[in-house]
Amino acid sequence: MNKGRTSRSTVSMWGGGDYSLNTIGAKHVIDNTGELALAALDAIDVAGQAGSFQIADFGAADGGTSIDLVRRIIGRVRERAPDRPICMTYTDLPRNDYSALFNLVHGGRADVTSYLDEYDNVHVYASGTSFYLPIFPRETLDFGFSATAMHWTSGMPGRISNHVHAVGAKGEELETFRRFALADWERILVNRALELKSGARLVMSNFCIDEQGRYLGNTGGVNMFDSFAMLWRRLVEDGTITEAEFLNTAFPQFYKTVEEYCAPLTDSSNAVYQSGLRLESSETRVVPCPYAARFAEDGDLESFAESYVPTLRTWSETVFFNSLDTVRSEQERRHIVDGFYQSYVDLVRKDPIGHAMDYVHIYMVLSKV
Ligand SMILES: C[S@@+](CC[C@H](N)C(=O)[O-])C[C@H]1O[C@@H](n2cnc3c(N)ncnc32)[C@H](O)[C@@H]1O
Repeated sequence: MNKGRTSRSTVSMWGGGDYSLNTIGAKHVIDNTGELALAALDAIDVAGQAGSFQIADFGAADGGTSIDLVRRIIGRVRERAPDRPICMTYTDLPRNDYSALFNLVHGGRADVTSYLDEYDNVHVYASGTSFYLPIFPRETLDFGFSATAMHWTSGMPGRISNHVHAVGAKGEELETFRRFALADWERILVNRALELKSGARLVMSNFCIDEQGRYLGNTGGVNMFDSFAMLWRRLVEDGTITEAEFLNTAFPQFYKTVEEYCAPLTDSSNAVYQSGLRLESSETRVVPCPYAARFAEDGDLESFAESYVPTLRTWSETVFFNSLDTVRSEQERRHIVDGFYQSYVDLVRKDPIGHAMDYVHIYMVLSKV
């Protein structure tokens, strides 16, 4: 079976446009790639080629977080090739809320201004094909972009006994996740290499473990994933969930180090390098948690606790919900998960110091030779 096509119920963002409404930080990360993306675009022969200019956003969710970057990219292409048609394709998993995406891009949200209002001859598409598979025909893509998506593995690598995320895994359990994720990364890159035209660029910002060992929600204060694990374990201790359900809980995610990200692109014996992908640049950056930053300014504890935890919930909820035994009714599972996130709100409310989901990313620019 092709594991890239396996449908995974744990990878799911909030739908109905709520994903981008609750993830301001992810938008900051994307906006932060703007200069890199425009410089990468400037290296492409935009005006000298015929046919449409093909752009893709891999793992786009509802498209809200990338809307301003896409506007800038389209604007830059237009400056250099005023008459060239532009095709913008959003990709994500089959279960993604594409209605919310199209509604947003076609101007259906009062709080979002779409680039379609500004530019003609722009054609918007979506693909529900996983980025672990070929998505576009060979050598047809001019510019690829992806943010905060490729830490999701193509399946569940294994179990984690005493934690809920690979960042807390140890020994062979950790190595199992690492091997799985490194093979996944090569697979993503080889597929992209086939799709990109010669001279095309791929700009990505992905979660990483940076040179100082920092990662999402672990930048010196309270470790977010340790908090998840501690509160979930507490539910075993008070009899709310079973040990088996705890063992069943793991994010299908892995945060690679800078070396792990770059190795396939610099090792000339690697299939990725041989497929023609090259590393133009890489750097790590930390984008501060906007909720913690606002709390530092206004000191409004209630608003912090009530806005910070929902942003965590947008991308983590299904992991906890789907690890619960299906002999429980859906209503009971929902009740347990509501209580779990409420316990996180209470934790933050009791002692807010150090809680923050700072974003730690590696920003990479790749080219196709
Ligand atoms: C945290 S969201 C990021 C969304 C957006 N790119 C941003 O930065 O705000 C991760 C997205 O990656 C998608 N995703 C996860 N695995 C994927 C895969 N194998 N193929 C395509 N999309 C995937 C998820 O469905 C989700 O929409």
